[in-house]
Amino acid sequence: MTALLDVQAMQKAYGAIRAVDGVSFSVASGEILGVIGPNGSGKTTLFNAILGQVLPSAGSVAFEGHDVTGSKPLHLARRGIGRTFQSLQVFGKLSVRDNLIAAGQEFGTGKFARLFAAPEAGLGPRAEEIIALFRIGHVAHLPAGSLSYGQQKLVDIAMAFMSRPRLVLLDEPCAGVNPALIDQLTELLRRLNREAGTTFIVIEHNMDFVMNLCSRVICMAQGRILAEGPPAEVQANRAVLEAYLGA
Ligand SMILES: Nc1ncnc2c1ncn2[C@@H]1O[C@H](COP(=O)(O)OP(=O)(O)O)[C@@H](O)[C@H]1O
Ligand SMILES: [Mg+2]
Repeated sequence: MTALLDVQAMQKAYGAIRAVDGVSFSVASGEILGVIGPNGSGKTTLFNAILGQVLPSAGSVAFEGHDVTGSKPLHLARRGIGRTFQSLQVFGKLSVRDNLIAAGQEFGTGKFARLFAAPEAGLGPRAEEIIALFRIGHVAHLPAGSLSYGQQKLVDIAMAFMSRPRLVLLDEPCAGVNPALIDQLTELLRRLNREAGTTFIVIEHNMDFVMNLCSRVICMAQGRILAEGPPAEVQANRAVLEAYLGA
């Protein structure tokens, strides 16, 4: 069977720093893959190289059997790959609903392109679908900036869903989010996986979240994959523990 995403021998160097140093893995449709590893181990850069945010120095990315290496984020969004960033991409002054519409207008380019995009009535029904799917109807009319940080994270993920992605990459969705909302986020991602059939790759430091949610985990260290397997196995791996202690 063709993998949904296949990454081969990915490298990204910044001068002498090999941020990603030969990473290969694939993701099957329906999986929830966790990516762990100490700060600076190359997790975000790996996402950026997959998603066309930076040009890989070497390696390839295939999505649904098509080579998409070096494709622009907009092209990848149209093909069905969504993402969230480590920092929120939500506009505080716009309502939650208008944030969704703005995100739908440009499928994953920069924050400022969203801000200056023309109003687009055609995206209203899709926004309502997403509001229902994410169960955020009670706050849809409120300025996104008036919500708690954790709720804004949910809106941020909802925005990524405007382009009907089959694969979504989340970069540290639990950072700064309170425990109750982390449980809610776990449930939400499970439900999206089950009901919308969305495949996820999730970078996260919160091990409870990773253990509860992920079917498989990759641990990165110094730009490479140090361990890969079932969550409990990777968590107990000696090299993984040492990588965290040494960080
Ligand atoms: N734009 C950049 N320019 C130079 N170095 C970078 C850049 N982005 C990341 N790096 C370096 O690449 C390494 C991996 O960073 P990153 O991918 O952000 O790690 P992680 O997400 O695992 O914390 C770090 O050493 C970081 O300093
Ligand atoms: Mg990071």
